[in-house]
This record gives sequence, structure tokens and C-alpha cells, in this order.
Amino acid sequence: MAPYDLVIRGGTVVTAADQSDCDIGVRDGRIVALGAGLDAGGREIDATGKLVLPGGIDSHCHIEQVSGMGIMCADDFHSGTVAAAHGGTTTIIPFAVQQRGESLRRAVDDYRQLGDAKAVIDFAVHMIITDPTEHVLGQELPALIHDGYTSFKVYMTYDGTKLDDYQMLDVLSAARREGAMTMIHAENWDMIRWLTRRLLDGGNRAPKFHAISHAQIAEGEATNRAIALGRLVDTPLLIVHVSAEEAMEEIRLAQSRGLKVYGETCPQYLFLTIDDLDRKGMEGAMFCCSPPPRDKAGQEAIWRGLQTGIFQVVSSDHAPYRFDATGKLKAGPNPSFKEIANGVPGIELRLPLLFSEGVGKSRIDLQRFVDLTATAAAKIYGLYPRKGTIAVGSDADLAIWDPDRRVTVNAAMLHDNTGYTPYEGMELTGWPVTVVSRGRVVIDHGELNADRGSGEFLPCAKSDHAKPLQRLAMELDPKRNFGARILF
Ligand code: URP
Ligand code: ZN
Ligand code: ZN
Repeated sequence: MAPYDLVIRGGTVVTAADQSDCDIGVRDGRIVALGAGLDAGGREIDATGKLVLPGGIDSHCHIEQVSGMGIMCADDFHSGTVAAAHGGTTTIIPFAVQQRGESLRRAVDDYRQLGDAKAVIDFAVHMIITDPTEHVLGQELPALIHDGYTSFKVYMTYDGTKLDDYQMLDVLSAARREGAMTMIHAENWDMIRWLTRRLLDGGNRAPKFHAISHAQIAEGEATNRAIALGRLVDTPLLIVHVSAEEAMEEIRLAQSRGLKVYGETCPQYLFLTIDDLDRKGMEGAMFCCSPPPRDKAGQEAIWRGLQTGIFQVVSSDHAPYRFDATGKLKAGPNPSFKEIANGVPGIELRLPLLFSEGVGKSRIDLQRFVDLTATAAAKIYGLYPRKGTIAVGSDADLAIWDPDRRVTVNAAMLHDNTGYTPYEGMELTGWPVTVVSRGRVVIDHGELNADRGSGEFLPCAKSDHAKPLQRLAMELDPKRNFGARILF
């Protein structure tokens, strides 16, 4: 009997730390050997001339989720995970949303069932907390964390989801107590709705005004406030989908003060600009997401943030709405910017875009690519080292890349249900030709080979990244921080 179920032979194996030419031996879904000249496997893959990377982890994507506007997104756990796998991603972490008045446990259990039934790759689940009652934070949250749901997102914006600062403090201190990671959508809702009203009153309805209403200042202010709230209770946090340079600068400042503040950005802020929202007719609706893409200089700033380490994670924030009456145009063929579903697709192209334009154009190296797209997310959300790296004992979640494969992006080649891509026509170099999930070859030269429901739920551990610092002696001095005096 062959000692390995699968051997991947002759590739260049890349992790966030280093790279080396070696074979990978896989048994029972796990990596059991790394080295030259491994014995034969039940199945062999020749990776000569290819890069073997950890499968991507998309730690922020919206799958089978109803939006704040009440629109079901276009992808369920099947189409979403199939698309992810085709793009080299082997783990996703979408969101179970608690509606106001609803039990958090109920929201998570219902959502988990959808994933169990349909996912073709492994998945964990973040929570979205919109109703942080004493019962939710005191009873439900600790039990859910115990069950492997160790991270949640909160919103500082939108009528249906927004928490006020008082609620944010309740949530952040619960996260501190329980060791959970808090993800924050940081935009100042009052600024946005004030601008929206004035824009609409002035007859400014076109998609591009979405970007004007979601002003950079609104993102920067809320980011600053989120960091201050986290500081008051000494709790780590992660600012999601950062698009504005001034929000990024707030994160940089916090990091330079030694705070555990993490930053995530997304392809839409690296590859799109406000000009895309200004395309003819309603086409700009395809690019409306929150926060919105900024101008060219802002886009370059976000690239600098990747290069200088301000951002730890590049996720897709895949939020797929079709460009028709089921999605973007649900309010009619000519909606005002306020009525357009927020979000862009990107679950399949996240890795190829960053590989081609980041690694291929020497903006980041391969180690940073792996860290940004897999390893850091695994660490931050408590999946490491099972996921996010190539090591003996880790799950055999691998993407074998042809670094020279040239691909012209078009919507028809993609596998999600959105029906369009914001990246139509882009010429990319580098593509994941074979993708392995827990030892199963799920994508073989573009062909899917994975059953519905074959993906497994991943319970997340409490991550070290979510541990409070308790080192800011000066800040914890009761004379300086009255919040700290009450808490500790
Ligand atoms: O526009 C976006 N990003 N839609 C998805 C929901 C969110 O806030 O991440
Ligand atoms: Zn958000
Ligand atoms: Zn999102």
C-alpha cells in the first residue's frame, strides 16, 4: 500500500515564512511529509515549474445572506464555495446575521445548517451582532464561543445594524472578557445619511453619488472612534474593508502606539476607483459597495498600506448582487444611489488579482501574498496551524499555481452567480490550476470534483490576536483611563 494518498511532486512550496523545492505527502487529508524524493502516493501530481501555496482563506465574504435592504445575495454555500475553490481559496468565513430581536444562537444554528448541506470547501462562521442585549452578550455569546464561533462583526452604520458607542463598549468589553475577535464596519452613519439627504434633495441620484455620500471623513472618523472605544476597554479589534487613506492612517497610528488594531482591505480598493461608479447609465451600480472605492491616489495609498504592513488581511468582501431586478436594480431600472444594493463580487478573483498585480508587478513578495491571503487570517481567527500554512500536521489545503498562465477576465468564466465581474477585461498572469481541500483534489485543471456538503465546519479557537494587551501601563493607570479603573 502506498504510504501516501497523494503526493505533490517537484513544486516550489511557499509559506508566509519561506519557500523551498520539495514534495508534499498527504494522508487522511493532512500533510504528513515534506521533503525531496518522497515514496509514491496513491495519486501523484506533477507540480514541476509550479508554485504550491496554502489554499486561500477568505475571511470576509457574504454568502446566502440577506442584505440590510432585504435582498438575498446571489450566492448560496454551493455556488459561493465552488467559485472560491476555482480561485484557489479552500476556506471561507462568511457571516451568520442576528436580526434585531432574534437569538444569536438561532441565527448561527440556522446558518450553519446551510453550510453543512452545501459547502464544497471548509468553512467557519463569524457572527454579526445587531442586538447586543445582556442575554446575548452574557449567555449566548460565551456558549457560541465555546462551540467555535469566536469572532463577530459589528456595524457603526446602517439603520438596521448600527450600534451606538455605548453598545459598542458593551460588545467590546464582552469580547475582551470572552477572548473573541471583534470586526468593525467603521463608517459614521449620521454623516452618510446627512450627505445622502442633501445629495438627493439636489437631484443627485446617480451611482457615483454613493461614493460621495460615503465620504472618506466618515470612514476616518468612525475608525478613529472604534480604536478609541477599543482602547478604553483594552480590547483588540480588526477594522474591515478599509478603503480610505485616512482610515488606514488611523490604524497605522494605533499600531505605532503598540495597540492590537488589525486592518483588512479588499480587491475593490486596490483595483477599482470612484471613476468606475461614474460609468455610463446605471453601470456604475455594479461598483457600489460600502465603503466605496476612492480616487487613484487613495488606491495607491491602500497599496502602500499592503506593502508597509498596515494591513494584515486581504479578503474579498464578496457581496454578490446581480445587475438585474433580483439585485442591484431591485428598486427599479433607474434607482437612486441610496436604493442600490451595496456590494461587489470577488470571491474567485481575490487571489488571482493580488497574485498578478501584487506579486507579478513586484509590489509584494510571495511570502507576503501568502500571509495576506491565508496565514494571517488563520492566526487572527483561530484556525492556525490547521489552516493557512503548509506544514506537517496541517490540513492538506493547497493551491498549485501556474505563475505564467495568462487569463483575460470575463464574467462567463467565473463560477459565482452574480453574472458580472467588476474586473471584466483585466489581463492577469498566474492562476491556480489545481486546488486541494483536505487532501481531495477539488479543482483539477478547471474541473470541479467535490460534492455538495463535502466541506466541513471549522470550529475556531480563541486566537492570541484577540487577547488583550494589558501592557499599556500608562493607559491602564486609573488616573489616565477611568474605563480601566472600573474594569480592572
Ligand atoms: O458593500 C458592502 N461591503 N457590502 C457588504 C456588507 C458589508 O458591510 O460588508
Ligand atoms: Zn461591512
Ligand atoms: Zn462585508
